[in-house]
Amino acid sequence: MGRAFVYVILGGGVAAGYAALEFVKRGVSSGELCIISDEPFAPYERPALSKGYLLPEAPVRLPSFHTCVGAHEERLAPKWYKEHGIELVLGTRVKSADVRRKTLLTATGETISYKFLIIATGAQALKLEEFGVSGSDAENICYMRDLADANRIVDVIHSSTDGNAVVIGGGYIGMECAASLVINKINVTMVFPEVHCMPRLFTPKIAAYYEEYYMAKGVNFIKGNVLSSFGIDFNGKVTAVVLRDGTRLPADMVIVGIGIRPNTSLFEGQLTLEKGGIKVNGMMQTSNSYVYAVGDVAAFPVKLFGEIRRLEHVDSARKSARHAVSAIMEPEKTGEFDYLPFFYSRVFAFSWQFYGDNAGEAIHFGDFSGSKFGAFWVCKSHLVGSFLEGGTKEEYEAIARATSLKPTIEDAAELGRLGVDFALAV
Ligand code: FDA
Ligand code: NAD
Repeated sequence: MGRAFVYVILGGGVAAGYAALEFVKRGVSSGELCIISDEPFAPYERPALSKGYLLPEAPVRLPSFHTCVGAHEERLAPKWYKEHGIELVLGTRVKSADVRRKTLLTATGETISYKFLIIATGAQALKLEEFGVSGSDAENICYMRDLADANRIVDVIHSSTDGNAVVIGGGYIGMECAASLVINKINVTMVFPEVHCMPRLFTPKIAAYYEEYYMAKGVNFIKGNVLSSFGIDFNGKVTAVVLRDGTRLPADMVIVGIGIRPNTSLFEGQLTLEKGGIKVNGMMQTSNSYVYAVGDVAAFPVKLFGEIRRLEHVDSARKSARHAVSAIMEPEKTGEFDYLPFFYSRVFAFSWQFYGDNAGEAIHFGDFSGSKFGAFWVCKSHLVGSFLEGGTKEEYEAIARATSLKPTIEDAAELGRLGVDFALAV
């Protein structure tokens, strides 16, 4: 049994939704495009899961956050795909791919062939087992990657009222989920091996600002430590988290956010990989010219820094997906992907944005005892990265523009004094 399409998107996450919209804008015909996803939902904005989805009051639910509302574009509910003749093959895992034959084999035994393939398989959460800790399958240990995970967290939150949560990992998932747990009146302890939260991006000074706020909200930080095992009751439920130094933390629930692994396995040995992802050129094209890769799974050239990077953020998923569609449908009109890395987060009433690269020396600016502050990163006398908390739309646009221009910085102290005004004047 088999079906053939001109375009197939493998994976039905953020990138898939934005690619579908771009295909329609560029005039795909009915019956030409198919999206295959192992999730049972049409593409949705994954960032909502650790934020609005976990709120105790008026939480967001589908269909409100289907793509592409995150970029203030049309909301593509399942009906939209039908109306445009796009085949949504949901709840279906692709278990093998043959790029030479241009076919995908699904777990239901169907062979789907394509002329052009866009790989948008994203990533999966790393499991504790990979760090030698067993017990991840207990009902109150939660990961956070997809809607099924988020639903499980909501259920566990409801059965842990006024209880204790241990959050493992001090990255994005850890920080966003910890804030949501606090809002749900759950006592939170965060455990991570580094000296401060968000070590991949924050400076110690920026981290200290948010950590102080979290502590004022009752969050307990245990740093420089990792868990070694779980205390489990007769029903298989976790009741405690035991740390490497022997500390025993009572736990009604555990959320684990210890990083991700890109879903490349279907293509290993068939396509060139780099930086843990599928290597693509500036057209998002892999080492096979009929296969493109976008989003978290793609390692692409970031022109601004002259190197291949794999980014794990929603803006890059959206824009790389659109670029791939443009490159497939109008190759002669499509230039190389020219992308300024952009990350953001929202926790409690905070909201920050980051553009560029956090390489070189960090120059802080603004009021760290107030609500508007940030940092510029200067590398080889050029501004390469900008972080701002509490900015206005105009200020965020200014730091993005300034970062993309990589201006020469002669006086770092002056840059710190000027802060956002420097970016506004560039
Ligand atoms: P994505 O993971 O969205 O989609 C991949 C899809 O492929 C999934 O549906 C998966 O099931 C499917 N799939 C994989 N293998 C398959 C197979 N073999 N067969 C069939 N289907 C398969 N970023 C940011 O900038 N700001 C933010 O605030 C947040 N917040 C945030 C919260 C949470 C909870 C998460 C998990 C992530 C974020 N992110 C974020 C990151 C952002 O969501 C992420 O970068 C994008 O979702 C990446 O989009 P992709 O489409 O590449 O993967
Ligand atoms: P992450 O890479 O942001 O953080 C992983 C954290 O795990 C590290 O900071 C470290 O503290 C911790 N860690 C690593 N090994 C550990 C161990 N053995 N024990 C305890 N802690 C350990 O990854 P994440 O927070 O899991 O996020 C997953 C993905 O989701 C990432 O791709 C991230 O970019 C994405 N995400 C992004 C946002 C956003 O951009 N606002 C929000 C949520 C999720």
